Amino acid sequence: MSALPGSPEGTAVTGLDSSPVDVGSLAEVPPLPERARLEARDIIARYPVARSALLPMLHLVQSYQGYVTPEGVALCAEELGLTKAEVGAVATFYTMYKRRPTGRHLVSVCTNTLCAVLGGQRIMDALSADLGVHHDETAVDGSITLEHAECLAACDYAPVVTVDYEFYDQQDVESARELVAALRRGEKPLPTRGAPLTDFRGVSRQLAGFSQHADEAAAAAAVDAPGDYGPTLRGLRLAEERGESAPPMQGPEPEPADTGEPRETVRPSGTTGETPAQEAADARVAAADNPAEEAGAAGSHPDAPEPSGRALADQDDGTETPAGAEPGTGDQSPDVPPPAGEGSDGPSRTIQGRAPKRRR
Ligand code: FES
Repeated sequence: MSALPGSPEGTAVTGLDSSPVDVGSLAEVPPLPERARLEARDIIARYPVARSALLPMLHLVQSYQGYVTPEGVALCAEELGLTKAEVGAVATFYTMYKRRPTGRHLVSVCTNTLCAVLGGQRIMDALSADLGVHHDETAVDGSITLEHAECLAACDYAPVVTVDYEFYDQQDVESARELVAALRRGEKPLPTRGAPLTDFRGVSRQLAGFSQHADEAAAAAAVDAPGDYGPTLRGLRLAEERGESAPPMQGPEPEPADTGEPRETVRPSGTTGETPAQEAADARVAAADNPAEEAGAAGSHPDAPEPSGRALADQDDGTETPAGAEPGTGDQSPDVPPPAGEGSDGPSRTIQGRAPKRRR
């Protein structure tokens, strides 16, 4: 455990980054102005519970200092009545909170499955070579922080790059290189869709819930531009051309007729003595034609007991020992009741927490 890079507090802030500190770039981080504290209080006033304001407050800190500094952690802790360790725990959980100084722009390259197979990893490798940095590092000129990202929720535009969270769709190595070169020259190429590009501190201010624009006109000019959205709507257009439509959504099951009995009493459906839901689940288990399907059907059976938390994962080894029972004794844990309708001498489970296949 160590403090945030450059922390004057040694190990007082726990759980944070322990990588080497670039003291040179830290010298350029301006102290938080008094205005930041007042804005933090504005954010707190938006929420019925003060600590709910922590996430936008951390963005606010980044808007002034470029990352979550020890000073910013302290400000959040003071204003919210939290410990610095509690603030640090949140700041280190989410990747949008940066633990070291960022460049003017944050370039995120999606290297998740779809983008990766369409060239996302090649883009990441090329930018990494051009900038001389790896994931979560900043070019020496301070222009760009590069990171690889998990799915950016734009798979239909893969491979995707974002700059300060604005989208640049369907990139390839060359277009991404040109984009980054333009950013390093101080230009701000228009995103493929959405709002015009700002910079990392500007977008952090937006995420804190404040305008980064000087006046109303500038703010109005920065609203999302109309987009094409062609790939997103492609399925809809094809369906229209073909006269296809989605099947109607199933509504809720009809209420049982009011028989005068208590509502929670569900009557068995006849010959089997089970409810319709149990019968349907039995049928799904019986129809399973491979072990995985069978296990899935058994797990969703109304008679299947609730999995017993971590014990389920720890014990999913194919033995018949339920959580809390002595191995080999066949004892049933008091926390794991037998499926409804089965006594203690009912059939044993093959996998902890799952009902056995029910055969007729
Ligand atoms: S995999 Fe890249 S946006 Fe989804």
